[in-house]
Amino acid sequence: MDQRALFIIFGGTGDLAYRKLYPSLFRLYEKGYLKENFAVIGTARRPWSDDHFHEVVLNAIADDGRDVERTNTEMARKFASHFYYQSHNVDDAEHYVNLKNLADKLDAKYELNGNRVYYLAMAPRFFGTISSHLKDQNLLTENGFNRLIIEKPFGRDYKTAKELNDSVSGSFAEDQIFRIDHYLGKEPIQSIAALRFGNQIISSLWNKEHIDNIQVTLAESLGVEERAGYYETAGALRDMVQNHIMQIVSLLTIEKPDVYDASHLRDKKVEALNNIQLYSVDEAKKNFVRGQYGEDANQTQASYRDEEGTDEHSQIDTFVAGKLISHNPTLEGVPVYVRTGKRLAKKTTQINVVFKNLDTDIFHNVEDSDAIGLQDNVLTIYIEPEMGYTLKLNTKYGNQGYNINPVHLRYRKTPEEKAKIPDAYERLIHDALRGDKTNFAHWHEVSRAWKLVDVIREAWDSEDANFPNYESGSMGPKAADELLTNDGRNWVFNPLK
Ligand code: BG6
Repeated sequence: MDQRALFIIFGGTGDLAYRKLYPSLFRLYEKGYLKENFAVIGTARRPWSDDHFHEVVLNAIADDGRDVERTNTEMARKFASHFYYQSHNVDDAEHYVNLKNLADKLDAKYELNGNRVYYLAMAPRFFGTISSHLKDQNLLTENGFNRLIIEKPFGRDYKTAKELNDSVSGSFAEDQIFRIDHYLGKEPIQSIAALRFGNQIISSLWNKEHIDNIQVTLAESLGVEERAGYYETAGALRDMVQNHIMQIVSLLTIEKPDVYDASHLRDKKVEALNNIQLYSVDEAKKNFVRGQYGEDANQTQASYRDEEGTDEHSQIDTFVAGKLISHNPTLEGVPVYVRTGKRLAKKTTQINVVFKNLDTDIFHNVEDSDAIGLQDNVLTIYIEPEMGYTLKLNTKYGNQGYNINPVHLRYRKTPEEKAKIPDAYERLIHDALRGDKTNFAHWHEVSRAWKLVDVIREAWDSEDANFPNYESGSMGPKAADELLTNDGRNWVFNPLK
């Protein structure tokens, strides 16, 4: 079904709008989710004309890379004609009057029924100002819906996140606020619930009796790129752990919701995060390790401290590994090891669920020099770049004796299947249009996640790290491996082996 709405994009000349928002809106248009009843106002300080704006939007679609020819079509031109540009200073109340006039005009022209989506593709320090002006200058409509989409970073810690939240919640109710975490727009992340609660063989084993540990790896091969300014204030803990990793961990540890919908899922996620053990500073020091990349073995890649815009003595973490412990009843005490880092060996996002050993091994007497012997069953969920699953099983392996060796049941999405999957932003914008909050982070999730990481930050800020402590192209510092070996375990995913 097509949706009617006016999008007002703050930061309309910015990188996010260009790379993600305009191409995603176009895909929704191509697929018929947006038809004639929509309009977009792009705002920013620069004085652009509508014509120039149209050109930018068409370039954004072309640069999106799927098919440059798409921009030369009647459809693309028609799409771009729904875009309007309004030069705007977010601090100036008067400017919102102009914005309201244009919004009302477009509402009438495109018959939008007062439905409005305000997308704040800007630094969070502007969130409070913009949302209060939107309310005070009467941009919020009475007849339609008013939805606010905001991007991370949502604060630097619990305190600043709360201030930020208070500043927007004066104008928008929680059910009108859509906090984007683009990992929640990824197909394989959304599939975690289907895997866990749609399969008897998985759900009956997904508990503390059968799972030994869960491992979550978000490894990146790129370095900090051009984002040193932001990254120096964030580091991997704030950039990846507080949001993406905590969201993934919540989906892996939730109890079963009665129904799969936004409110039931949210309640279970909040509960799961509340039931992740909140460490003391000493516990955080023991259970979390940090790293910062140095040069690679051949010295062809710069160390973090030599990257453009970083501090030569920077103490910022480009790698984090740690152990979280769930106290949700079903997984009580099960450790969830997490790690993420830049300049690691391979861009890979995957989850490994390691099942417990059998109580007895009836094959241990079988003498066969080739036998590997019983291995842990492991369910691997591939998120990116591959998508799919592998299940490691023990089996008898074709010879005269009784040789136990592991095999892998393997399912991967084909390139054709992957090409059909909507991009995370396309999906999340569509969800916001439909008012579906299933794949957005609730304030209670965000706030708990901050509390969990604040104590780790506090532990680290109390002493200087000995950086750099891992080579570019490795899988992080030795301490990240020791976290597991100290517990008698190993990281399942090791591209260097
Ligand atoms: C972003 C971080 O949220 O996620 C980036 O700010 C990181 O630093 C990116 O590179 C990773 O996302 P993806 O989808 O490429 O795994």
